[in-house]
Amino acid sequence: MEYRPKITVLPTEAEFDRYAARKVVEAIKSNPKIHLTMPTGKTPEGMYALLADACRMQEISFGEVVICNLDEYWPINPEAPDSYASYMKDNLISKVDIKPGNWHIPRGDAPDPQEEAESYDELVSELGIDLAVLGLGPGLTCHIGFNEVGASFDTRTRLVRLDPVTAEVNKRHFVNKGSFVTSAITQGLGTIMEARKIVLLAKGLAKANGVGRFLLGPIDEDCPVSVLRTREYVEVILDSEAASKLN
Ligand code: GLP
Repeated sequence: MEYRPKITVLPTEAEFDRYAARKVVEAIKSNPKIHLTMPTGKTPEGMYALLADACRMQEISFGEVVICNLDEYWPINPEAPDSYASYMKDNLISKVDIKPGNWHIPRGDAPDPQEEAESYDELVSELGIDLAVLGLGPGLTCHIGFNEVGASFDTRTRLVRLDPVTAEVNKRHFVNKGSFVTSAITQGLGTIMEARKIVLLAKGLAKANGVGRFLLGPIDEDCPVSVLRTREYVEVILDSEAASKLN
């Protein structure tokens, strides 16, 4: 069975960020105890800034919200500037009133990554995710989390190797390039698909081919994000550049 995601295209980056933030704000307002899966990357930075503003203005509170991140590099010191844990602290966690015990992310310094992955998977499944917000990998990696080309649709949270394209692009963002690692712990595609609702964000020309492959190509493991076309309650939020290969 194939489903067509709801697709929303915003003309500018500012409108994209506002629309994406509004989705999360409305979700928190309708369920202040919501369980969220959240992404990292450049794409959601504007959304996070607006969520922090909404919390500062007391429009929403993260006081009862639970966040489970999608992924984390391994091995990496969670305190290192390039960890996703640091990214989350800088962009959201330090700016909102979330309770420390309500934010979860795989431990980049776990001595046994597979054990860490399994216990993280159990945690995510037991909590149950109401809304998962996802980004899209670079080029034709079409990854979500770090589920790269070839990942089967029923994968659970596990240790993975980054695709060479992902590694090349992500390394550019590393402050300490010498400490770049090519492995990560990621929620699996099966884990992500258990979320009640999913919102995928893709911004910029560099995502246009991936978005085209996702929405117009076959549903298969060459395109991990295409798993989202096998279910309901998926919304895809694009800016006009990311949507440019759809017509
Ligand atoms: C990383 C993360 C993904 C994220 C992607 C997109 O590879 N593992 O979860 O969606 O980056 O990043 P950006 O928004 O910077 O393009």
